[in-house]
Amino acid sequence: MFIVKLNAIDSTNSYLRKLSAEEIVQDYMTVIAKEQTNGRGQMGTVWSSQSAKNLTFSVFKDVSQFDLEHPFYISIVTSLALLKTLQFFSISRLSIKWPNDILSEDKKICGILIENVIKQNNINASIIGVGLNVNQTEFKNLPKASSLKIISGKVFDLDEIVHVILKNLKHYFLLLKKGHYDILKNDYETYLFRKNKPSTFKDEEGVVFSGFIKGISMSGNLQVLLEDAIIKEFDLKEIQLLY
Ligand code: BTN
Repeated sequence: MFIVKLNAIDSTNSYLRKLSAEEIVQDYMTVIAKEQTNGRGQMGTVWSSQSAKNLTFSVFKDVSQFDLEHPFYISIVTSLALLKTLQFFSISRLSIKWPNDILSEDKKICGILIENVIKQNNINASIIGVGLNVNQTEFKNLPKASSLKIISGKVFDLDEIVHVILKNLKHYFLLLKKGHYDILKNDYETYLFRKNKPSTFKDEEGVVFSGFIKGISMSGNLQVLLEDAIIKEFDLKEIQLLY
């Protein structure tokens, strides 16, 4: 396994993306930064993290040999690898908030940013960016954020966690390569945050409505049971879960 450790970089995702455009990058090459000056989150947000306290890293995954009809499976695989890693370190009450935030109870401890490298209209590789809050104990203006240290009271070794994550990523990507879509989808849905619980959402127009999360479609849309007993599917831009 090829692991590169940097003191500071704008974003490990941007670094790996640029590198992969310039040269052949080894499968599972991992870039870890103590500090990111322009850490990026989902939907154009900023990912901030205290220097050297947490894990901010990206993994290059070659998916050119995968029969990837549904790219959302890359998200499923990554979410499961992270969740199982945190289970291994005895973190309690874990769930996956669709599409791929990892929570403990109702607090976010891990965010994932997956950026795909497209070649000839196919996904050739994925840059899997992970921000895992490990030993940081204060999150200014982020009341819904937490860390492994806050939850468990323990200080964790960052390298040890990365190795378990990479081992789990390999395990789940092998399942994907072998086409075990049902196993992966069922496992993901088992941990889906607020599944079968009455929940409040906001749509694109800002209209608030309620429903029950039932699961996800093969393409990764969220399936919500609405008041009129109809299950409707939403993609990421169409719905926001308000806790
Ligand atoms: C989210 O919004 O929840 C996703 C956060 C992803 C953050 C990680 S940190 C390492 C990698 N590099 C980035 O710039 N972002 C991801």
